[in-house]
Amino acid sequence: MIQVDSAVDLLRAAGGRPRVGLVLGSGLGGLIDHVADRVEIPFREVPGLPEATVAGHEGRFVFGFLAGVPIALLAGRLHAYEGCSPKQVVAPTRMLAGLGVDALVVTNAAGGIHPRLDPGDLVLLDDYIDLTFRAPLTGQLRTGEERCPDMSAPFDEQLRGLFMDVAVRLGVQLHPGTYCGVLGPQYETAAEVRMLASLGADVVGMSTVPEVIVARASGIRLAGVSLVTNRAAGLGAETLVHEDVLAAGAAAGDWLGDLVTGVVAELGAVTPQTRSG
Ligand code: HPA
Repeated sequence: MIQVDSAVDLLRAAGGRPRVGLVLGSGLGGLIDHVADRVEIPFREVPGLPEATVAGHEGRFVFGFLAGVPIALLAGRLHAYEGCSPKQVVAPTRMLAGLGVDALVVTNAAGGIHPRLDPGDLVLLDDYIDLTFRAPLTGQLRTGEERCPDMSAPFDEQLRGLFMDVAVRLGVQLHPGTYCGVLGPQYETAAEVRMLASLGADVVGMSTVPEVIVARASGIRLAGVSLVTNRAAGLGAETLVHEDVLAAGAAAGDWLGDLVTGVVAELGAVTPQTRSG
């Protein structure tokens, strides 16, 4: 088991007690600019964490305030396709749980499968399908985690409502949709995308599912947002290139930043916030 508890001590000493956790997907690092009073800790300085190796995934914890609410943000994540074990992939999420966040917002770049989805669209996740065939809850658990968490509603209905309200207020269109998590790193074949469509997937990506599973096992409320960076294989004319995914993420980052900041403001509206909590 990765030394989550000693890592949490180190992170807490640097960053305090965040209330909300955020995970940023490929190219979505622009959200960091919205964070005030930042303290940054690269994954390589955290005991037990390997460095993230994917372009667009810098791999660091960022602590600070969004709309006055103390947050901890994972800029970059670890993926199974980098050679990380399932336990390594979810270690940063376990650290957020150890820091005591009570809500987690996970974002990702994804391919659009539903015919109504265009590149640049934002999808508020209502469910997921796990085709990674990697289970992060096998073996030793962190204290307080549930071995067999209920997954009938992985994304919190109240948080989803909050996202919808803030999106309407900001004039941002949010499509509801189901995320399919795959291992990657190769993009899908056109035949696979047809299969995923028939299974009920609206978007497809290579992350997020392990984090959702571990957060649910820790009792953390979750919301998930996908940015559609491309039409999934076979549905658009273009061939898929990781650099294009990053560029699409950068282009839509502002919308997502405003949306997430608005939601965090609502979450923190109840009590005034300080870093030491
Ligand atoms: N497939 C899988 N992962 C992705 C895609 C895709 O089309 N786009 C961005 N991440």
